[in-house]
Amino acid sequence: MTPAARTQSLRPSPIRALSEGAPAGAIAMGLGEPGWALPEPARLALAEHHGPCAYGPNAGLPELRDAVADFHSETSDRVMLASGSQGALFALFQAWLNPGDAVLVPDPGFLAYPALALTASADVVTYALASDFTLDPEAFRHALDHTPKARIAVINHPANPTGAGSSLRALAAVAEACEARGILLISDEVYRELYLGERPAGLRDVSTTGVVLGSVSKAWGAPGLRVGWALGDPHWLAPARLLHAYMVTAPARPSQLGALALLRESSTVLPAARAELSLRWDVFGEAFTAHFGHPPEAPAGGFYHWLALPPTAHADPMAFCLRLRDEAGVVVVPGFAFGAAGQGYLRLSFGGSVADIREGLRRLAPYWRSA
Ligand SMILES: Cc1ncc(COP(=O)(O)O)c(C=O)c1O
Repeated sequence: MTPAARTQSLRPSPIRALSEGAPAGAIAMGLGEPGWALPEPARLALAEHHGPCAYGPNAGLPELRDAVADFHSETSDRVMLASGSQGALFALFQAWLNPGDAVLVPDPGFLAYPALALTASADVVTYALASDFTLDPEAFRHALDHTPKARIAVINHPANPTGAGSSLRALAAVAEACEARGILLISDEVYRELYLGERPAGLRDVSTTGVVLGSVSKAWGAPGLRVGWALGDPHWLAPARLLHAYMVTAPARPSQLGALALLRESSTVLPAARAELSLRWDVFGEAFTAHFGHPPEAPAGGFYHWLALPPTAHADPMAFCLRLRDEAGVVVVPGFAFGAAGQGYLRLSFGGSVADIREGLRRLAPYWRSA
């Protein structure tokens, strides 16, 4: 298959496809974004922007790079700014993958990973997670040992779509395995600051290797700014930064100013975001328990609930999710969109309004009771 043909085989994400066909009045529990207002520091920074709106340096505004570096206790040369963490991921894949290389991704996992590997003409190899969907170093190593062409491995914790985290032990083992093989480990930690209880473990707690992804899209409440970053050794970042510069020149300047204001106010913005998450989780938990008869498992971070399908839905999960959308009026995401291991599940987002969470669960529950 030629690279062009591979790219032509890309399809719109099922998340978008389901959302876009939704009937009027449907409740959105599909898209993964914070439903609370853009925090004030970013609103003010956007409103205060006067004068020319120049391109600025390709590598992004130095003040923003410094602010990201400060937040993560890194040096600025170990920060790559990008148009969303997904922009960084795209550039890293394009920079480091040759056609025929393999990328290791979790199953279930964020659906951009295999799609972006495809655009780099790489093969996708999935690795299994533990039964509670946390990172399982033995399963990871098994996949690595059986993939001689592996060049990049991606881990994600807290995870989309399951909300599961990772232990320090698992992160250390995975980092060591990748380092021993000269493989670029990308640790996607975009949900790390959005947690309910304890702050989840991060790769940098145990290792200086690999690249860590972060973003203002989740905990800083600003997905529409499209500002994210990659942190790591300049050796890994330099070619990706160049590629990103040719692709978009630089992240949008007003967005960078908004992101800078958010980063500088992290000590108030992040606790407020966690309070928003906690409020929604309490409502979700109460309504879920009332309608489904048992409490839901709390995520390590993020705003996803990974819900097992009723047995009758297993034969055709897409048809079931379309019924939920068109009859019940609730948009969800079928688990198979995240990989074969997601076949028996669907993903619910509780990032939206409290009223939508209550009403959404009320509408969904009868489809489990009657199954
Ligand atoms: C696990 C994960 N990584 C990365 C992204 C992309 O985020 P960004 O808005 O920073 O591009 C998302 C967005 O939903 C995500 O769920």
